[in-house]
Amino acid sequence: MPFLSDTLSRVKPSPTIAVTNKARELKAAGKDVIGLGAGEPDFDTPENIKAAGIRAIEEGKTKYTAVDGIPELKEAICAKFKRDNGLDYTPAQVSVSGGGKQVLFNALVATLNPGDEVIIPAPYWVSYPDMVMLAGGTPVAIEGKLENSFKITAAQLDAAITPKTKWLIFNSPSNPTGAGYSKAELKALTDVLMKHPHVWVMTDDMYEHLAFDGFEFCTPAEIEPGLYERTLTVNGVSKAYAMTGWRIGYAAGPVELIAAMRKVQSQSTSNPCSISQYAAVEALNGPQDFIATNNEAFVRRRNMVVEMLNAAEGITCPTPEGAFYVYPDIAGCLGKTSAGGARITNDEEFATALLEETGVAVVFGAAFGLSPNFRVSYATSDEALKEACTRIQSFCAGLS
Ligand SMILES: Cc1ncc(COP(=O)(O)O)c(C=O)c1O
Repeated sequence: MPFLSDTLSRVKPSPTIAVTNKARELKAAGKDVIGLGAGEPDFDTPENIKAAGIRAIEEGKTKYTAVDGIPELKEAICAKFKRDNGLDYTPAQVSVSGGGKQVLFNALVATLNPGDEVIIPAPYWVSYPDMVMLAGGTPVAIEGKLENSFKITAAQLDAAITPKTKWLIFNSPSNPTGAGYSKAELKALTDVLMKHPHVWVMTDDMYEHLAFDGFEFCTPAEIEPGLYERTLTVNGVSKAYAMTGWRIGYAAGPVELIAAMRKVQSQSTSNPCSISQYAAVEALNGPQDFIATNNEAFVRRRNMVVEMLNAAEGITCPTPEGAFYVYPDIAGCLGKTSAGGARITNDEEFATALLEETGVAVVFGAAFGLSPNFRVSYATSDEALKEACTRIQSFCAGLS
C-alpha cells in the first residue's frame, strides 16, 4: 500500500516558490542573483496597519476568534465591497481565511465532487489547477492568446462549458500576465455564463487595486447582477496593502457556500491569526492614499521593463493593465544556443540558462500553462530591474 495519497501524486509543488527559493540559495552562496520571481510587493506594510497589529497584541487580542473572522473585520469587508464594487453583502455572507489562497482552497474543497470540472483561463496563477486536483476536481484550461493580450474570448468560454462544469475561476488583473478585462470584455463572458445557470464563478480579485493608466477594474457580480447568487468574490489584503506575510484573505458569496467553507476551515486551521485580522480592519478602514503612490512606482517600473524587454532580440512583451507582472513571449529565442552553450528549445530551458549564465531568476511560462513565455515580477527596485533587463538583453543577443 503506498504511503502517500494518489491525489497528492498528481499535484506539483508551487514552481514560483521553487524559483524564489533557488534564487535565495544562490544568493546565500555568494552569487550575484537578481530575483524577479516573487509575487509580492517590495514595499513595507504601512505604519498605521503595523500599529494596529501591535495594538492588538498589547490589548491581549491574542486568543481564538470566530472561525471565519471577527465581526469588525467582516463589517469592514462589507463596507469595502459596497465602496469599491457597489456590492451589497452582510457579514453572514463573508468568510475570512489565512490568505486568498486558503479562501480559494476552502471553496473548492467545499464544493467539488469527483468528475466536476473547473474552467481556468491560461496562463493562470500556478495554484489553481493543483488546488482543483487536491479537492478532487478536474481542471480544464482555456488558452488566452498573445494576440488577445492573453485574455479568453466569450466563444472560447462557451465552447469549454459542459454539463460537468461547476466553476469558472476568473482573475483580472491577472497573475501572471497583468492583463485586465475591460467592462465590455467581462460583460461578454458574463453573458455566456447567464446562458449556463449551473456554472458558478470564483472571481479572484486579488489585484483589484493594482490597476494602471485609468484602467477601470470590474468584477463579475457587479457587471452582471444576475450572477450574484452564484458568484464567490475573492479578495485580500496581501498585494494592495503589502501584507503578504500577515495571511489574510476574504470572500463574499451566498450564505450556504460561506457556511460550507467555514466548516472546512473549522476542521483544518480554525480562525486566521487574530492579530492580523485587527491589522486588516485598519487596512480596509484606514487611509487608502498610499495605494496610488505605490502604483506610480509600479507604472514607472512596468514601462521600463516592457520597453527594455521589447528591445531584446526574440522577445515580444505586451503592456499589461495591472498587477506587477509582465509575461514576455520568447518564440523568437527558441531553437537557438546560448553563449554558455545551452540549447534553448522551451521556456524552462530559457529560464534555467538565464539564471545560470546571468543570475536573473524568472519563472518559466509552462508553470502557468502557456508557453513559450516567462513571468517577470517587477515588484523590486528600479536599479535591480534595469540591471536584470540589461542582462536579459545581452543573454538574448548571445543566442545563436
Ligand atoms: C492571483 C492570485 N490569487 C491569490 C493569491 C494568494 O494570495 P495570498 O497571499 O493572500 O494567499 C495570489 C498570490 O500570489 C495570486 O497571485
